[in-house]
Amino acid sequence: MTEETVAFDVENGIAWVRFNRPDKRNCMNPALNRRMMEVLDQLEFRDDVGVLVLSGEGSAWSAGMDLKEYFRETEAKGLGAIRKAQSEAYGWWRRLRWYGKPTIAMVNGWCFGGGYGPLFACDLAFAADEAQFALSEINWGILPGGGATKVVVDLLSMRDAMYHALTGELIDGRKAAAWKLVNESLPLADLKARVTEVATLLLKKNPIALKATKDAIRRVAEMTYDNAEDYLVRAQEAANSHDNEGRKEGIRQFIDEKSYKPGLAAYDK
Ligand code: ACO
Repeated sequence: MTEETVAFDVENGIAWVRFNRPDKRNCMNPALNRRMMEVLDQLEFRDDVGVLVLSGEGSAWSAGMDLKEYFRETEAKGLGAIRKAQSEAYGWWRRLRWYGKPTIAMVNGWCFGGGYGPLFACDLAFAADEAQFALSEINWGILPGGGATKVVVDLLSMRDAMYHALTGELIDGRKAAAWKLVNESLPLADLKARVTEVATLLLKKNPIALKATKDAIRRVAEMTYDNAEDYLVRAQEAANSHDNEGRKEGIRQFIDEKSYKPGLAAYDK
């Protein structure tokens, strides 16, 4: 029987997607990477999905790449197999970075090495205080590849990134939040309720504006001010062509109907 490496349910507009190899601490083997891309494909344009949450079954979020199946067994097959396995892993992380819906990493437990790829790919990240993070590559003799070095350099201070990568030491959810690797950390028992609250808040917003905004945050990070200004004008005009009425309705409900205040909440879609 094929192992079901990814589990998911859709409930009240939220797609709850889970790494599902708890016995292997949800480490990513090629089968999981292929399946995750299929699941992302299936969910992206479903009308009943407004937000995607990525978590893990059991005690782990993800123990990174599968050292046996992703590294050792793939390397034994030669360079072609290595490049294929890399493109499958990097492929779904990239897909997630630019996903059509907002995404939230709900880090319930262990998060190592390669796990930083999907962690960064999610727009927001909430961790359990009890979760443990490390760039453990150094502990088994490689550098943090697959984007992990880039993730910590983008999110952490240079000193914290350097310490984290050179020592391979664990940090818990609280420290991950203090370092800005995740948005917030809270007790595991409260994690799902908080993520549901944030996802529900996002579900109230205009979905085209959400997609335009999340892309803009990632894109302008690499631009000069003038390039960003130009990109943002074009991005808003492109969004208008997909959703001509949304923002007009937002203005109408505030100015004419006086039914809400945009400073305090979202308009009624
Ligand atoms: N690759 C392959 N197998 C793994 C991995 C992994 N990354 N992580 C866990 N497993 C397997 C174990 O080999 C074990 O398999 P077995 O039951 O067939 O013996 C099973 O999952 C359970 O693992 P344990 O070590 O027994 O679980 P425990 O809860 O005691 O420890 C921990 C959890 C700390 C996550 C430990 O499994 C571990 O250190 N894993 C490796 C973490 C890591 O460094 N990942 C690589 C990061 S670098 C990169 O991703 C590029």
